[in-house]
Amino acid sequence: MNSPARLKPLRSVDEITGSRRLRRMRKADWSRRLVQESRLTVDDLIWPIFLVEGENRREEVAAMPGVFRLSADLAVREAERAAKLGIPALATFPNVDLSLRDRTGSEILNPDNLINRATRAIKAAVPEIGVITDAALDPFTSHGHDGILDNGIIINDETVEQVAAGAVLQAAAGSDIIAPSDMMDGRIGAIRDALDVAGFQDVAIMSYATKFASAFYGPYREAIGTKGLLQGDKKTYYIDHANTDEAVRETEQDIAEGADMIMVKPGLPYLDIIRRLKDEFQMPTFAYQVSGEYAMIEAAAANGWIDGEKAMMESLLAFKRAGCDGILTYFAPRVAELLKG
Ligand code: PBG
Repeated sequence: MNSPARLKPLRSVDEITGSRRLRRMRKADWSRRLVQESRLTVDDLIWPIFLVEGENRREEVAAMPGVFRLSADLAVREAERAAKLGIPALATFPNVDLSLRDRTGSEILNPDNLINRATRAIKAAVPEIGVITDAALDPFTSHGHDGILDNGIIINDETVEQVAAGAVLQAAAGSDIIAPSDMMDGRIGAIRDALDVAGFQDVAIMSYATKFASAFYGPYREAIGTKGLLQGDKKTYYIDHANTDEAVRETEQDIAEGADMIMVKPGLPYLDIIRRLKDEFQMPTFAYQVSGEYAMIEAAAANGWIDGEKAMMESLLAFKRAGCDGILTYFAPRVAELLKG
């Protein structure tokens, strides 16, 4: 019997492909650039930064090399750097002093809490940068949940009232976009009402429309200090990561209640959700490349197992391809510098 390599081919490649050769446009850098469908620019970036009490304080997050908790004064320096790089907006997340955390997260109602002080300082120094604030109770509760916990149950309606009141204080401090990340029912409408009544019609809402119960939030919980506190899990309020129809229903509801922008979180494992929501709703659509995604890329790169820079750029372009208008990413300043240079 002849070896397969020696068999005369039945058809030539041109006969097989009908002379269609997709490699033609891939042959050179210039032709690849010409036909490139998605692009990542600095305008796509939202930079999440962690805040900590105090002054001149800068602590690296152990599971997120290159990411720091910053006191408000140093956050202002980073905001200046971001503005110079052309990054459109920052999203702030506070590591609140343990002594200020309680069962109901009442510190969110303090007009001078860490988030609000940082917002005021950033907007005073760098008014041209957008500030997005996280409206959720988890940085403020003693149990690490995003809601008021009563007998093991997260009480929806009381939580919504508290988050809406906190959101108004964030707007008063100068926040441009309120981003509720707690997944309580009715939060978007309640926040919209509260903002409007308080005269903040121009403050937008970015809904964490589909936030999935996920293992990828681990390093974030270390960053804001909820890691040791969290009792149980968040499955009674975050979406089951097996579900996509539910993600559509949740998003439809948030848009009806007044969301201006929608977000999918985590990011890379949920590109199918991003594509489906963009096709279905044509809303400004964002993804949050979360802490665990950042940590995975960094850890593999540190071991020399992948090229970290290339993996970073590829992962971010994937979000654009999936239909995102922008991405929250801890890589933002590095990407901005790379795109600039
Ligand atoms: C909770 C919140 C989470 C993140 C931001 N806000 C998730 C959580 O702790 O359950 C995760 C962000 C990240 O992992 O980068 N309101």
